[in-house]
Amino acid sequence: MNTSMRGRTVLITGSTGGIGRETARGLAGLGARVILVGRDAGRAEAAARELRRDTGNDAVAALTADLTRLRDVRRLAEEVAGRCDALHVLVNNAGANTARRQLTEDGVETAFAVNVLVPFTLTHLLLPLLRRGARRGDEGGRGGGAEGGRGGGGAEGGAGGGEGSGGAASRVVNITGGIPRGPIDPSNLQGERRYLGWTFSQYNHSKVALMAMSRRLAERLAGSGVTVNVAYPGHGHTPGNRAIPTAAFPFVYRPLAPLVRLLAPVLLADLSRPARSSVYLASSPEVEGVTGTYVDTNCRRAAWPAGALRPGDQEAVWELCARLSGLPAA
Ligand SMILES: NC(=O)c1ccc[n+]([C@@H]2O[C@H](COP(=O)([O-])OP(=O)(O)OC[C@H]3O[C@@H](n4cnc5c(N)ncnc54)[C@H](OP(=O)(O)O)[C@@H]3O)[C@@H](O)[C@H]2O)c1
Repeated sequence: MNTSMRGRTVLITGSTGGIGRETARGLAGLGARVILVGRDAGRAEAAARELRRDTGNDAVAALTADLTRLRDVRRLAEEVAGRCDALHVLVNNAGANTARRQLTEDGVETAFAVNVLVPFTLTHLLLPLLRRGARRGDEGGRGGGAEGGRGGGGAEGGAGGGEGSGGAASRVVNITGGIPRGPIDPSNLQGERRYLGWTFSQYNHSKVALMAMSRRLAERLAGSGVTVNVAYPGHGHTPGNRAIPTAAFPFVYRPLAPLVRLLAPVLLADLSRPARSSVYLASSPEVEGVTGTYVDTNCRRAAWPAGALRPGDQEAVWELCARLSGLPAA
């Protein structure tokens, strides 16, 4: 069940196309003020125009940033602070999956940079705005009752929850993907020792690392009024998916690649499906005040992968992000 998002300001990365744009469409349709982020000003403005037209919500704007560059991430945070007094939802949606090991201009492996370091950095840079959003609660006329005080996670354990029963918490939603299982290798977080792009191994590894970072962040922000949860979107026929070369498919699936390419535009064209879980975490009163939770593509609570829960590995991911971002961590 969703609620009105009127009066709530939402920032979504990677939202000029793919699942991010459908997440933006869903939240704009609920009345949120939405800020899109993509790399290209023309595409970004076209997406904003399309969403304003389709949803009848004029409060959809676009900013540009290439999230493989930390200087763009810093500029983006400054621009958001220049536009907004407060932020209520940050969806770290943009992702990267490269078949070969590539370094960004900051010297960081690209999948780790976009999938883990940027969510860490952008969230930290926007924390003052998110905290302000939480303090302001639902002044914008947000409908639905708060269900504060619920712990998240069920049997797999939430990271705290319980943001109080008064105002609405601000929400950070991080998007995982691939097959986010297996252990984290702290000595190979950037694929420096072994990079098996063609098995998706670095992509999967980086998404487990994102989940580990998200759990740690949820714990650290417990009680601050800012919740942190993770959504699994499920598959969609997106620009990112279309760009994956056959060589990047796991070996056993490669003979099926032509069939997948034929069927995907038909079977996976409806991107509102994979956008459901992020729209849910960003807007539903069912998860008001809930933090440290992981939901699947059907918006059901899912068990965290064991690899994301090991404190030592969480710490390794956290320390690397803190060092690479140069930020004092929350
Ligand atoms: N698609 C799937 O089947 C699937 C499955 C599981 C999980 N996921 C996850 O879901 C999320 C969205 O996936 P998607 O397939 O929709 O992604 P996508 O097709 O790659 O997303 C395209 C969007 O991301 C933006 N983008 C790409 N690289 C960027 C960068 N370096 N800096 C800034 N913006 C960038 C694009 O902006 P431009 O306008 O600049 O191109 C566009 O708005 C990702 O985290 C992905 O890992 C996807």
